[in-house]
Amino acid sequence: MSARQLDAGAGSGAVSGAAVGLAGVSKRFGSGKAGGLLALDTVDFALRPGEFVSIVGPSGCGKSTLLRIMAGLVAPSTGRCTRPEGVATAFVFQEAALLPWRTVERNAQLLMELEGHAPASCKARAAEALKLVGLAGFEKSYPHQLSGGMRMRLSLARALALRPGLLLLDEPLAAVDELTRDVLQEELSSLWRQAGFTGVLVTHNVHEAVYLSNRVVVMSPRPGRILDVIDVPFDFPRAPELRASAGFAALTGRVTAVLRAQHTTPQAARHAQAVA
Ligand SMILES: Nc1ncnc2c1ncn2[C@@H]1O[C@H](COP(=O)(O)OP(=O)(O)OP(=O)(O)O)[C@@H](O)[C@H]1O
Ligand SMILES: [Mg+2]
Repeated sequence: MSARQLDAGAGSGAVSGAAVGLAGVSKRFGSGKAGGLLALDTVDFALRPGEFVSIVGPSGCGKSTLLRIMAGLVAPSTGRCTRPEGVATAFVFQEAALLPWRTVERNAQLLMELEGHAPASCKARAAEALKLVGLAGFEKSYPHQLSGGMRMRLSLARALALRPGLLLLDEPLAAVDELTRDVLQEELSSLWRQAGFTGVLVTHNVHEAVYLSNRVVVMSPRPGRILDVIDVPFDFPRAPELRASAGFAALTGRVTAVLRAQHTTPQAARHAQAVA
């Protein structure tokens, strides 16, 4: 298989057969006397085709940077990121970043237009994507007439119109209320199964990560390293009630424990000793 590569140095091999392969990926921003800022440190990971993976970790640990490296928007300082040739990649940012003067349908067409698709194809695929995310009937509305959840759905539709093989999502549900978030998680999961893309989600919400994913990657504080990759064994489709089950609680507890182990304050350490 031929692979598109962002190669930053010798010594690291490509990860063959992966939807995205990261081999010894580090990222340093800036240089100078202080040596710049090491954001990511020797990340190795192989994303399997068709799977959904979430990345959790403390603020500033390099999650967005890692996602940008996977997207090919940022080059690693050392190591290598490989992706199979010809796989369309779409990125959904935390802020929906819609154009206020464009209608819903024209916003949904935007990324396709930028990629130079024919107008008829932009229209047809945007209409299909709007239907998928439940925004059919709102084509002529403007972003200011939509709720926060609808704006996020539109942002997703804009990405899905590209028919991505790889969809990278950077905290897309962070700005919506908890109930809407649960519903959007269920919709995202069903979109993933229908559309068949490989998904990577960055989130601070451990429940969201476990609910949506085949695997959860847990990262350390900066410089970001992978502390653990936890398999989520529940079958798809996942019922909303799964979130209330003991198995789900056990798994979210496991992810949280790995995260918390990195954040031990003196007080927490005394408490842990006291309860041990
Ligand atoms: N373009 C850049 N130039 C310089 N430093 C950067 C740049 N992008 C990110 N950084 C730094 O790299 C580190 C990781 O940033 P990143 O945005 O990847 O973290 P994050 O895990 O996504 O954080 P959050 O959860 O708050 O979104 C931070 O210290 C940040 O200041
Ligand atoms: Mg981020």
